[in-house]
Amino acid sequence: MTTAVDFNPLSPEFQQQPYPHYRQARDETPVRFIEALNAWGIFRYEDCAYTFKHPELFSARDFITNAFGEFDPVPEVPSIIALDPPDHTRLRKIANVAFTPRVIRGMQDQIDKVISDLLDEAQAKGEFDFVSDFAAYVPVSVTAEILGVDAVLGRGDFKRWTMDLIKAPSRMALPEAELAQMKKSVEELRAYFIDQIAYRRKNPGNDLISALIQAEEENQSLTETEILSLAALIQFGGSETPSHLIGTSMWELFEQPETRARVQADPSLVGEVVDETLRHQSPVHFVFQTATQDIEMHDETIPADSLVFSFIGSANRDERMFNDPDTFDIDRKGKNKHMGFARGAHYCIGDMLGKIMCGSAIRQALERMPNLHPVSPEQEWMPSFWIRGPKEMRVAP
Ligand code: HEM
Repeated sequence: MTTAVDFNPLSPEFQQQPYPHYRQARDETPVRFIEALNAWGIFRYEDCAYTFKHPELFSARDFITNAFGEFDPVPEVPSIIALDPPDHTRLRKIANVAFTPRVIRGMQDQIDKVISDLLDEAQAKGEFDFVSDFAAYVPVSVTAEILGVDAVLGRGDFKRWTMDLIKAPSRMALPEAELAQMKKSVEELRAYFIDQIAYRRKNPGNDLISALIQAEEENQSLTETEILSLAALIQFGGSETPSHLIGTSMWELFEQPETRARVQADPSLVGEVVDETLRHQSPVHFVFQTATQDIEMHDETIPADSLVFSFIGSANRDERMFNDPDTFDIDRKGKNKHMGFARGAHYCIGDMLGKIMCGSAIRQALERMPNLHPVSPEQEWMPSFWIRGPKEMRVAP
C-alpha cells in the first residue's frame, strides 16, 4: 500500500497551494491512502468520474458522518446528500421542483437587486473586503429568499452558522473553545428551522419550505425531519460555495488584466469567467464517499468501508483531460466538462442559481467600479482543504 508521508491536507502549506501536491499524486499515486485523513484519495479526472458513475461501489452513505460528525444538525434522518439511489431519487425529485430553470431564471431580477443593495453598502466603505463585506452576503441573502427566511434578519446568523459548520471536517485539529462555538451554531440553526417550518405551516408562502411542507401534505411522504434536513442542507450548500466562487472569480480577473479588460468591454463574457473559475479553482475540492466492498484501482486495493475522497479540485487540473490545466483561459474549449458541481446523482442542485449569483456579482461590481483593484498583491486562501476561496481580499474602488 502506498503511504502518504508528504501528502498532508491538514498542513497550512497544502491548504494555501494544493495544486503541486495534486499533480504529484495524479502522476505518481493516482489512488492513495492519506494517513492524515485516514482516508483514500482519488486524483485523476477519469477515476473521479468512475466513482460518480458507480454509487453501488462508492456510496454517499457516510457523507454527513464524515463531514460533520457530531455537528450534524439533523442526525435523526439521512440527509439527501448521504443517500444513494433509489432512496435519493425520491427526495431529489421533490427538491428539484424548487430549482427548475424557469424558477431560477425568474429570480434574476431579485438576485440583481440583492447584489446591487449589497454593493451600495460595500462601496460606501471606500476600501472594503470583497469577501467579508460583499461576496459572503450574496448567497446567504439569496438562499434566505428561496427558503422564505427574512433576508436581513437571517443573513448574519446564517453566515455564522455556515462558517462554523464548514470547520467540521477539520474537527480533530480544533481547540475545545472552537468546538463549543460550533456546537452552539448547530443548535441555533436547527432551532431556527424548526420555528420556520412551524411558521410556514400556518403561513404558507411562495418559498421552498412551504413547497416541501405541501409535498408532505399531499402524502408524498416527506417527514417533518426530512423537511428540516433538506432546509438545513440547502442553507449550508447554498450559502457557502457561491461566495467563494464570487471571490475567486474576481481574483482570477485581478490576476489577468487582459481578460478583465475584455470582460469589461463585453459583460456577456462573465459566464465564461464563472465556468473557467469552477474548473481552475473549484470552490469544493473533494466529495466524501465510502467503498461498499474491496475495490481494485491502479494496483491498489481500497478496503470495504474505507472513506474515499474524490478530489474534484485535482480532477479539474488533470492534464489528461484539460490542455495546460494550470492556466486560467476563458476561451478554453470544453471547460464545461469541469467537475466543480460533482457528477451523477448528487450533481449540485443549485448549479444554475450559483452561476447566476456569481455572474451578476462580478458584472455589477465591474460596472460600478471599473478601476476596482486589490490593495495587497499577496492572496491568502481559506484555511481548509475542502472548500477553496480567498480568506480576505481588500479592494479599493
Ligand atoms: C456556486 C457554487 C456551488 C458549488 C461549487 C457547489 C458544489 C456542489 C457539489 C460539489 C456538490 C456535490 C456534493 C457531493 O456529492 O457530496 C453539491 C451538491 C449540492 N448542492 Fe451545491 N454548489 C454550489 C451552489 C449551490 C447552491 C446555490 C445551492 C442551493 C441553494 C446548492 C445546494 C446543493 C445541494 C442541496 C446539494 C446536494 C444534492 C444531492 O445530494 O442530491 N449548491 N454542490
